[in-house]
Amino acid sequence: MEVQFHEGISEVIATTRNGQPNAAPMGVINRGSLYIAVYKDSHTFLNVKKNRQLVANFVADPLIYVKTAFEDLGPDFFSPDETAPVLKAAYAWVEFTCSILEKPTQKSAVVELQPVRSVVLQRPIIPVNRAFCAVLEATIHATRYQTLEDPAYLERMAHCESIVTKCGGRREFEAFELLKKYLGQAITSRQQD
Ligand SMILES: Cc1cc2nc3c(=O)[nH]c(=O)nc-3n(C[C@H](O)[C@H](O)[C@H](O)COP(=O)(O)O)c2cc1C
Repeated sequence: MEVQFHEGISEVIATTRNGQPNAAPMGVINRGSLYIAVYKDSHTFLNVKKNRQLVANFVADPLIYVKTAFEDLGPDFFSPDETAPVLKAAYAWVEFTCSILEKPTQKSAVVELQPVRSVVLQRPIIPVNRAFCAVLEATIHATRYQTLEDPAYLERMAHCESIVTKCGGRREFEAFELLKKYLGQAITSRQQD
């Protein structure tokens, strides 16, 4: 495979299909073999269960992570040239065949990933940016807050925002504002406490 996954967890936009394409941020886990741990009520899992296909899109745009965590992307976001659901925003992608390890008592399932093909479209020569990481971190807290309703997740948002303000550019500011919009009232009342 031309593309390497970090040992540990790499954050990608996972795209799947069930008629319509779907996109959501997911962590690809590399502990010798590749897999994702995915909530069984997600569209990603339901689509994988149906047709055993998943594409890991490598995306450098923080806005796409925020958007896909909370809503669906229209067909215009997907490449018309590929049969697999590939994002136009991806600078590289890997298509996988999936096998599922699922226990009825558990809310999440393990999806093992077998690479089929990988494509590198361009290599962004960009150093690590803390604001990009802070947007991702805040988006994870936000999705957990939505699912678990534990206010501890919201308390971490202010720290992430301070990093975005210090280290970010326009795209990160825009992404964080969108995230706050999705969280709406929950975050506004928290900031007023
Ligand atoms: C950076 C990031 C990584 C995420 N990783 C996972 C993951 O590994 N497994 C999971 O079930 N959800 C993960 N999530 C949450 C899902 O993206 C979120 O629940 C999403 O709404 C699922 O969308 P879907 O229903 O279209 O699949 C992650 C969110 C973010 C922001």
